[in-house]
Amino acid sequence: MSVRIALAADHGGFRLKEEVISFLQENGIAYHDFGTYSEEAVDYPDFALLVAEAVRSGDYQLGILCCGTGIGVAIAANKVPGIRAALCHDTFSARASREHNDANILTMGQRVIGPGLAREIVRVWLASEFAGGRHARRVTKITEIEKKYGGCSGR
Ligand code: RB5
Repeated sequence: MSVRIALAADHGGFRLKEEVISFLQENGIAYHDFGTYSEEAVDYPDFALLVAEAVRSGDYQLGILCCGTGIGVAIAANKVPGIRAALCHDTFSARASREHNDANILTMGQRVIGPGLAREIVRVWLASEFAGGRHARRVTKITEIEKKYGGCSGR
């Protein structure tokens, strides 16, 4: 099954999301744009939730979220059980977030990095895979924390 990306941003990340869309289109990667569709002010948790639920449902294997800093959408998305959203502003972290943490959502901040670096981060993130092994044991412990506090994730 080929990967499908769920994508969203708030107004502060709208232009970076458009850049990510260009990258995905140029590389023939399937995606759905959950909004926002302009720079009119919106609330970032609403858009983080759309992508987090889309990934949690299994309809989309991975998600990408943008806001001004990448922080708000990461915090909000990580409230959804089964979501491991990673804020990455460099390619080393992007690769490690997939290989070590099995991150299923990448978040970035439009006010922090430029479009060229964002494209490279997305490229590396999508090209990297979970390494398993000792990392799987640690990711399982993250899921156990979710269960302890009422999350019902089986993913
Ligand atoms: C919106 O002004 C800004 O707060 C938002 O995009 C994001 O940076 C929140 O973390």
